[in-house]
Amino acid sequence: MADWKTIYQERNVTAEEAISYIKSGDSISVAHVGSEPFVLLEEMVRQAERLRDVHLYFLLSLGDAGYMQPGLEKHIRFHGIFLGNSTRKGVAEGRGEYLPCYFHQYPAMLRARGGIDVLLISVTPPDKHGYCSMGMGIDHIPDIKDETKLIIAQVNPALPRVMGNSFIHVSEIDYLVEAERQIPELAPVEITEVEKQIGAYCASLIQDGDTLQLGIGGIPDAVVTFLKEKNDLGLHTEMAADGVVDLIRAGNINNRRKNINRGKSVSTFAAGTKKLYDFLDDNPAFELHPVSYVNHPNVISQNDNVVSINSCIQVDLMGQANAEVVKGMQFSGVGGQIDFIRGANMSRGGRAIMALPSTAANGTISKIVPFLDHGAPVTTGRAEINYVVTEYGIAQLWGKTLRERAREMIAIAHPDFREELKAEYERRFFEKL
Ligand code: COA
Repeated sequence: MADWKTIYQERNVTAEEAISYIKSGDSISVAHVGSEPFVLLEEMVRQAERLRDVHLYFLLSLGDAGYMQPGLEKHIRFHGIFLGNSTRKGVAEGRGEYLPCYFHQYPAMLRARGGIDVLLISVTPPDKHGYCSMGMGIDHIPDIKDETKLIIAQVNPALPRVMGNSFIHVSEIDYLVEAERQIPELAPVEITEVEKQIGAYCASLIQDGDTLQLGIGGIPDAVVTFLKEKNDLGLHTEMAADGVVDLIRAGNINNRRKNINRGKSVSTFAAGTKKLYDFLDDNPAFELHPVSYVNHPNVISQNDNVVSINSCIQVDLMGQANAEVVKGMQFSGVGGQIDFIRGANMSRGGRAIMALPSTAANGTISKIVPFLDHGAPVTTGRAEINYVVTEYGIAQLWGKTLRERAREMIAIAHPDFREELKAEYERRFFEKL
């Protein structure tokens, strides 16, 4: 085989040429968050009219998702296991598909649907050995890249060179398109007073030596601000966000007590602001690994004292949670919620926390409900949830009867909604509360 520099030169083409190799009927998977290959996707949208029945598999897009424009769906059809701001509306209007799937099974699901023909990724320029990092959104890519017929990469010098299983050799890539693009940032999270209170309750359930999974949003970021006095924490999480950077730098998270990946913070993707991207660049303390590993409950449970913190749209009096659908519309996805709740429950000393504000829509809707909304999915079942936390306290559900659970849940509901929840309790359990 020629040396990698020769291969690079031979395969270095324009976006127009690289995308011209995509054919009608192809299944395409795309790297997501900061690793989204924006230049390749824009070119694919430009060439959309010549394509028919292309299936596009995607996770969380930080771009404008030009492929979701009305009229393009016959040419390029979006398939997502997680929806975001730019894809939600198209799916609601029937121009794209939502696929319920546990995140750790995503590679297996792609195989079951016939496999992937084309992989569109972003990479850093190669190092002296010809290896490129795939940046921050690797999750399913290491799992499927060897089974993919065509790999096209946007070579983006602005992409952080993240460690772990994020590397691909130039010889594995069929076409390389050089194009520098700034990495989009998530808007910095402003932590509300309610989130601070929830964060304080969650932090009270965390002890020195625990290994954490923290999701996205205000609540995980609020939890992090209460962990500055904790020691020897570990991080094994689906998504890394800004919140953990200061804890790792200050040594609160040192991963010393982990049983696996000891000494390393681990996630399968990362999304946040430049602060996070700069921290991840070339940092051997942080590794990305495939989602089939990071999110597998059997792997998660190999660490002791795993604490998972997730959120949801609503929880009923039995402890069933809908984390995906808002007012009948698919809002996000199953993601890694169940992966981590199961992993935490299986871990020795583990704890699974569901943390949510007690109300939505400026206090007009209770998130603690007698019944989940009509048609809403049970993302997390009642037998899975251990702690539910709101700004009014901690409900401990595991090991409790339905009657005991309902009492716990009413106690952490917003006072404005407790009377109607009590009325349902009295109807259901034939006793006054
Ligand atoms: N009724 C009506 N609307 C509701 C509602 C309810 N019960 N609960 C929330 N909403 C609305 C909010 O007002 C908000 O509307 P807006 O976008 O117009 O402001 C929207 O739904 C999102 O709610 P919010 O509380 O801002 O969501 P979040 O950013 O905290 O995310 C989930 C919460 C549940 C969507 C998110 O955690 C998720 O997708 N979870 C599933 C996947 C997962 O847990 N993965 C593992 C961790 S990475």
